[in-house]
Amino acid sequence: MRTPGPEVGESAFGTRVADVQGVTLRLVLAVLLLVAAVAHAHHAAPQAVLRDANASGVIATASTAGVIDPANPFFQSVGRNGRACVSCHDPAEGWTITPAGARARFETSEGLDPLFRTNDGSVSPRADVSTIEARRSAYRLLLERGLIRVGLSVPADAEFSVDAIDDPYGYATASELSIFRRPLPTTNLRFGASIMWDGRELALDAQADGAARDHALSARPLTADERARIVSLESGLYTAQISDNSAGALDADGARGGPRSLTDQLFHPGINAGASADRAVFSLFTPWANARGRLAPGRQAIARGEAIFNHRAFRPRGVSCSTCHDAPNAGSNSSGVFVSLGLSDAGLRTPDMPVYTLRCAKAGGVLRTTDPGRALVTGRCEDVGKFKVPTLRALAARAPYFHNGSAATLEDVVEFYDRRFSIGFTAAERADLIAFLRAL
Ligand code: HEC
Ligand code: HEC
Repeated sequence: MRTPGPEVGESAFGTRVADVQGVTLRLVLAVLLLVAAVAHAHHAAPQAVLRDANASGVIATASTAGVIDPANPFFQSVGRNGRACVSCHDPAEGWTITPAGARARFETSEGLDPLFRTNDGSVSPRADVSTIEARRSAYRLLLERGLIRVGLSVPADAEFSVDAIDDPYGYATASELSIFRRPLPTTNLRFGASIMWDGRELALDAQADGAARDHALSARPLTADERARIVSLESGLYTAQISDNSAGALDADGARGGPRSLTDQLFHPGINAGASADRAVFSLFTPWANARGRLAPGRQAIARGEAIFNHRAFRPRGVSCSTCHDAPNAGSNSSGVFVSLGLSDAGLRTPDMPVYTLRCAKAGGVLRTTDPGRALVTGRCEDVGKFKVPTLRALAARAPYFHNGSAATLEDVVEFYDRRFSIGFTAAERADLIAFLRAL
């Protein structure tokens, strides 16, 4: 695989170490970089850069803090089960976890790595994990789709009640639904108008406390210093694909891919909403529309894909991808809306997912879902199946996609939308759109 050389004023390399407690954590350490202020007097802030290969090229993370400190509590065991934040938010896997990464950890540790814990890594906290074969079965949703069990309850004043539970693992109750979700990346967080798939956390510091308690079984809250260091680390991270196998460096010849230009990207809640909304949400690869030379085919495909994402209209009401994914060059929703694509409808259920039957008191109707989503926060029937619109950077490093990992590849994502909205993409449009998504 071809990795472009470091640019002027930037250099990066990583190394793997074992954690100090002897807990085998896969850590990729950034080497401190002091970017010479000479060439970029107005961009004097030092940035650390991590790079990792993925199937379509290389991903890079920049930190505006200038350093990604391996001693930060984000990388340390913060509870009683050996878990650290990095256990589920690995820089090499786009700051989440992938099934391939989970399987590699399973094989080297015989399923005993701290990722594999029954509180939320297995299909049920009561699953048998006494032998390696039992563990392979208990952790199968993690190994196959990178899913973590989130135990959530229905709010006390909800408009709906849980009428029936069909949990293949016999654990879920009305007071603790087993919901299987993908860890969201702990990077590019500045572009998120809400925290968690259902927006249930209101601030990163409280989120970190909850994560230490629920995932790492910490018996005490994080100290103020630990919380501040975790939030400061997360908030300074920017991650994007930096190199593509068929287009080369994604920040070359006028293009603005990679994490550097993300650090300067304007964002505020509602930045691209309302009457003045600009559908040209992504403008990273416009200069490649007429790319020349050896890499021209790959570059032009990415530029065409960007235009399709921005403008290709489909039902209903001439919506395009960029209508929901409207945050400039980030792809989250700048207003923090929650949307249902129908992904958790019981009709799309696979037999390995629990299904909940909800009865809506007022409307008298019944809804069947694998994940009520936003409705578990608001208690409203109309919010069943709604999720936040996630940021769309560094996608190539972190398949599978959607809250439940139901799309194994970007091809599957595009296929899903094509069917969901009866878009009728041509084969060429699909290929271009996928090339663009890979380059993000
Ligand atoms: C066992 C795996 C696991 C561990 C360990 C873990 N997380 Fe997470 N993280 C998740 C999952 C799953 C989600 C999505 C949950 C949801 O939306 O309901 C998530 C979501 C997040 C988000 C939300 C990102 C966004 O865009 O909304 C942040 C921030 C985060 N985690 C930070 C942390 C921190 C800090 C720690 C360590 C204290 C940590 N996580 C430990 C699995 C984990
Ligand atoms: C109606 C609003 C809407 C439209 C239109 C839309 N999306 Fe999405 N997108 C979402 C929501 C909401 C999610 C999260 C859904 C979930 O997981 O339940 C999402 C998730 C995704 C993801 C997965 C990201 C991840 O981290 O898992 C990708 C990739 C994506 N969309 C690409 C596209 C493309 C390409 C188009 C156009 C063909 C598009 N979206 C159109 C709302 C929309």
